[in-house]
Amino acid sequence: MVQSRQPRSKPHALVVGGTRGAGRLAVRRLVADGYRVSVLARNPPAQTKQKLRNVRYWQADLGNHASLAQALTSINEARGALDSIAFFQRFRGTSEAWHGEIETSLTGTRSLIEILVGQFNLRNAAIVIVSSVNASLISKHLPLGYHVAKAGLNQIVRYYAVALGARGIRVNSVSPGTFLKEESREVVLSNRKLVALYQRIIPLGRIGTADEVTDAVTFLASTRSSFITGQDLVVDGGLSLVFQEALARELVPIGTASRSTKK
Ligand SMILES: NC(=O)c1ccc[n+]([C@@H]2O[C@H](COP(=O)([O-])OP(=O)(O)OC[C@H]3O[C@@H](n4cnc5c(N)ncnc54)[C@H](OP(=O)(O)O)[C@@H]3O)[C@@H](O)[C@H]2O)c1
Repeated sequence: MVQSRQPRSKPHALVVGGTRGAGRLAVRRLVADGYRVSVLARNPPAQTKQKLRNVRYWQADLGNHASLAQALTSINEARGALDSIAFFQRFRGTSEAWHGEIETSLTGTRSLIEILVGQFNLRNAAIVIVSSVNASLISKHLPLGYHVAKAGLNQIVRYYAVALGARGIRVNSVSPGTFLKEESREVVLSNRKLVALYQRIIPLGRIGTADEVTDAVTFLASTRSSFITGQDLVVDGGLSLVFQEALARELVPIGTASRSTKK
């Protein structure tokens, strides 16, 4: 089956995981930028007062190949070929974390790209995958599967950038550090100690926001980045550049500990 190319004025974007968090913001941003947006997630979005024009929702589980293929067929029939695809999904399940992370992040992303390329002859499109600084850095509060899946996504980006370049398909990733989103803003900002620490250790002096992650994604999803492919854009205020030992020295300058214990 070939992508149905209907006469249309607005570009068509697919946002995977666009019902919550940063993905939901990306949907709003893409609409503001003049896209028609198709959103894919397992559940419909929570009711919002403001209905977005040019947005349609499809339900499918990235872990279920048949439901994914069915949803992509419906999207293609209803709205035609895709110009941009952004992956924001995150495994938040209660099932076994390793399997869930690999299935939702890696296998789901690969399946969706393979269906679009194989079944719908995807061409001249931009793919953006939201990865994480945890593709290379370790956070003990996050499971092994999250780290491995994010590292794998960065390699998926490089592989497909090379493999699909001749079709005019660009593939890039955005790697955020922790960012504030609507759902977490209050709880993070009410923790003054944590906010003060972020201000101290992040070179740009504050925690980032979902808006700023979305800015990077929509740039890479648009024709403004038309000669960029296979790249990872880190959005963390510079934190991952700082050597941990330097942070330790800044928080406890050498000499202060011994001075403070002097009688
Ligand atoms: N939050 C942070 O501070 C942070 C930091 C670094 C990187 N990131 C990355 O940024 C991205 C967005 O994070 P977020 O916190 O904004 O995500 P989130 O709020 O947890 O939203 C995840 C989205 O993915 C969908 N989803 C989950 N499993 C799915 C499946 N099997 N099939 C289809 N859709 C599925 C969810 O809808 P359903 O549940 O209805 O399916 C939802 O729309 C993720 O890739 C995350 O790893 C986040």
